Amino acid sequence: MRTLVIGIDSGTQSTKALVVNAKTGEVLAAASESYDLIGGLPPGAKEQNPADWIAAVTKSIQRAMKEAGASASEVKAIGVSGQQHGFVPLDAAGQVIRPAKLWCDTSTAEECEAITRELGGLEGAISELGNAVLPGYTAGKILWLKRHEPENFKRLKTILLPHDYINYWLTGNAVMEYGDASGTALLNVRTRTWSRKTLAAIDPDLEAKLPKLISSDQPAGILSDEAARILGLEAGTLVSAGGGDNMMGAIGTGNTTEGAITASFGTSGTIYACAEKPIVDPQGEIAAFCDSTNRWLPLLCTMNVTVATGMVSDFMKWDVAKLNQAAASAPAGSEGVLLVPYLEGERTPNVPDGTGVFFGINTKTLKESNLARAAMEGVTLGMNYGLRRLAELGVQPTQIRATGGGAKSALWRQIMADIFNAEVVTLKVSEGAAYGAALQALWCHELQEGDGISIQDLCNQFVTLNTKETAVPNAKNVELYREMQALQDELSRSLRPAFKRHSQLTRN
Ligand code: XUL
Repeated sequence: MRTLVIGIDSGTQSTKALVVNAKTGEVLAAASESYDLIGGLPPGAKEQNPADWIAAVTKSIQRAMKEAGASASEVKAIGVSGQQHGFVPLDAAGQVIRPAKLWCDTSTAEECEAITRELGGLEGAISELGNAVLPGYTAGKILWLKRHEPENFKRLKTILLPHDYINYWLTGNAVMEYGDASGTALLNVRTRTWSRKTLAAIDPDLEAKLPKLISSDQPAGILSDEAARILGLEAGTLVSAGGGDNMMGAIGTGNTTEGAITASFGTSGTIYACAEKPIVDPQGEIAAFCDSTNRWLPLLCTMNVTVATGMVSDFMKWDVAKLNQAAASAPAGSEGVLLVPYLEGERTPNVPDGTGVFFGINTKTLKESNLARAAMEGVTLGMNYGLRRLAELGVQPTQIRATGGGAKSALWRQIMADIFNAEVVTLKVSEGAAYGAALQALWCHELQEGDGISIQDLCNQFVTLNTKETAVPNAKNVELYREMQALQDELSRSLRPAFKRHSQLTRN
C-alpha cells in the first residue's frame, strides 16, 4: 500500500488538488475546478461564495484520487492552501452569513483609514502590527461589515479566512495558523498575538470572534465523518494547519531557509523570502507576514498580473499560446508602449482607486503585439517596484524561483530575468502552493507520528529545480527596462491625483 498526501490550493479563479506520493514526492495526479467572482457588484467589491470553494475542493479531490487510482486508506494527511485575507463571516450555527470579501476587494479604503487613524497613523500601525492596514487585508473588511451591514455584523460569531473555512468544513474546527493570520492586519507579527488596540478600533467584542491561533506545524484537526463521506476519504485523516497561498507557495518552491526568493505570477503578483525574524518595512509597502513553517515571510503583492495578460487575450479572443506568440513578435520595450497595470486598483504601491493606462500609444505603436508584450512587461515592472523595496530592506535577490501561470511562458521568464536583473528558475512541480500544502501535510503527519523531520529537510528532499527553463539576464534589455521602470514610476506617481478624480467621476 502506498502512503499518499493531498495538497489543495483554493485560489481566486480555481481550486487545484494534487495527490502526492509521500515516499518519493512525486505528483501522481492533479485536478482543477474553476469558478467565478460574483457579478454585478459595486466598483471595487470582489466577492465569492465559500460554498463554491467547497464544491470545487470536493470535485477536484474526487477527480485527482480517481486519476491516481488511489484508495482512501492510502491517504495519510491533507493540507490546504488558500487565497489570503478574504473574510468569511460565520453565525452562531457555523453558517456563512454573506459572501466573502476577497484579497482583491478595494471597497474598504475608508475603513482602513479609520483603523489607521485609531492606531496613530501609519507609524502607529507599523509599531502595533508590523504592517500597514491596507484594503486587501481582513481588518478593513470586518469594519466594513459593521458599518454597511449592521444586521449581518450582529450575527457575526466567528471570523475565518478562506483556507480556515475549508479546514473548518473538513474538520469542524475553527482555528487560524500564524501565516494566514498575519494577513488579517489584526496580528502583531513580532509577538504572534492579536493586537488588542486594533481589535478595539473595530469593535470592543471582536476578540471573542477570532478563532484559536495555532502554530503552523500543528494539525487543524481530523477529517469529520460527514466530510469524509462526501469526499470518499477516511474519517480521522489528518488535516494540517494549512496556510495562505503565498506561505504554502514558499514551502512548495523550497523557500524555507534564508536566501531563496520566490516570485508568483498568478492573478496577483507576489515576491517573498523566508526570514528568521520579522522584516518590518517602516513605509508599510512590504508586508511583514509570518510564514507557515513558524518563521516570517516579507512579501510584496501587486494585484494585477495574469489579470492584465488575461484582459488582453480576452479582448483579442486569443488563447495563451496566441498571446505568447503575439508578445514574442514585439521587440523588448514594446516600441515604447508601457502599461501602468493598476487594472483592479493596486496594493503596492497603495493606489486602490487606480486603473490601467497604456502609455506611449501612437499611430505606429498601436499593435496587438505591443499590447501583448506591454502587458507582460508592465506587470513585471510593477512587481519590480516592490522587489527594489525588498532589496532596500536587506533581501537581495541573486536567483528567483518563479511559480504560477505566468512562469509557464519562456518569453515571460526572459522578461522577468531582464527586469529583475537576476537568474530566474522554475520548479519541477509548477503548482507551488498546492505542492507546499501537500508537503506541509506530510510534515505534520511525520511530526504526529513522532518522526521529528524538519520542513527544510522535506523541501531539500522533494523540491527540485527544472534546470531546462532557467533564464539569465540580457545586459542590453536590463538597461532598457531600467529606463522603462523609471518611466513607470514617474507615471504612477503623477497619475495618482487623476486616478482619484477618475474614481469619483465613475462612482457617480
Ligand atoms: C497576498 C495576496 C494575494 C492572494 C492571492 O497578500 O493578497 O497574493 O493571496 O490569492
